[in-house]
Amino acid sequence: MPMLRLDRILSVYTAYSRREGSERIKKGRIRVNGSVCLDPSARFEPEGLRLDCDGSERILHENNTFLLNKPAGFVSATEDPKEKTVLDLIRQEDRFPALFPAGRLDKDTTGLLLLTSDGALCHRIISPSARIYKLYRAEVNGPLTEEDALAFAAGLELDGGEICRPAELEILKSGEKSEALVRICEGKYHQIKRMFAARGLMVLQLKREAVGGLTLPPDLKEGDYIRLDEAALRQLFSTK
Ligand code: URA
Repeated sequence: MPMLRLDRILSVYTAYSRREGSERIKKGRIRVNGSVCLDPSARFEPEGLRLDCDGSERILHENNTFLLNKPAGFVSATEDPKEKTVLDLIRQEDRFPALFPAGRLDKDTTGLLLLTSDGALCHRIISPSARIYKLYRAEVNGPLTEEDALAFAAGLELDGGEICRPAELEILKSGEKSEALVRICEGKYHQIKRMFAARGLMVLQLKREAVGGLTLPPDLKEGDYIRLDEAALRQLFSTK
C-alpha cells in the first residue's frame, strides 16, 4: 500500500476534510503511533497505523468489511433523504474509509448484510457470475408443495418475463402460513418476493441467514455488527 500524507490519511480515514485535518495536525491534536505529528505532509502507510484524533485512538485498516445483522426499518443505502439507512447503525469511527452495502436487503428484510469499503470485494460478492449463494428464511401466506420446489429448481419466470437461475426451496413447514429456506446465487430486484409471487404466494417475513460460506452468528443481535478478518473473508468465498 502506498505511503500517504497525514492530512490525506485524515481525510480518508476520519470525518475531517483535508483542511480540517491539516489544522488539527498543526495544533498538535493528532498522534501517530503514539507521538504528536505537526507536519501535514509527513507520509505514513495507513495499514496498521495507530491514529489518535483529539484523544480517540484507533488502528487503521486499508479496507473494512463488516457483517451486520440488519433490523427491519433501515434501507440498504449510504444516505437517504427520508429513511434511516444501514450506515446509521455503524459507529462513526467505523465508517471510514467510506463504506457501502455489498448488495441490498429490502427495508423490511432482516439478517446478514455485508458492508465494505473495498470496491473489488463488493463486485466479487454481488456479481452473478461469481455464483455466491445467498440463503434466505421466508414465511409465506399459504401452503408450499413439492411442485413449488420443482418450479424453483427449474428456474422461475418472474413478472416481466425475467428467468431465474435454478434455486433451492426447502420446505420447513407448510400450512396457512408456511416457512422455507431458499438458496439463490443471484440478486434480482426483490427476487425472493417475486419468486414466491410467481407461485401465487406473498412473503410475510424475510431474513437472510447466509452469504457464501458465512452465516449470521446466532449471538449477533439485530442492529449489531462485526468486522470480518482475512479468515472470515476466505470463508465467505469458500462455499458457493
Ligand atoms: N429478495 C427480496 O425480495 N428481498 C430482499 O430483501 C432480498 C431478496
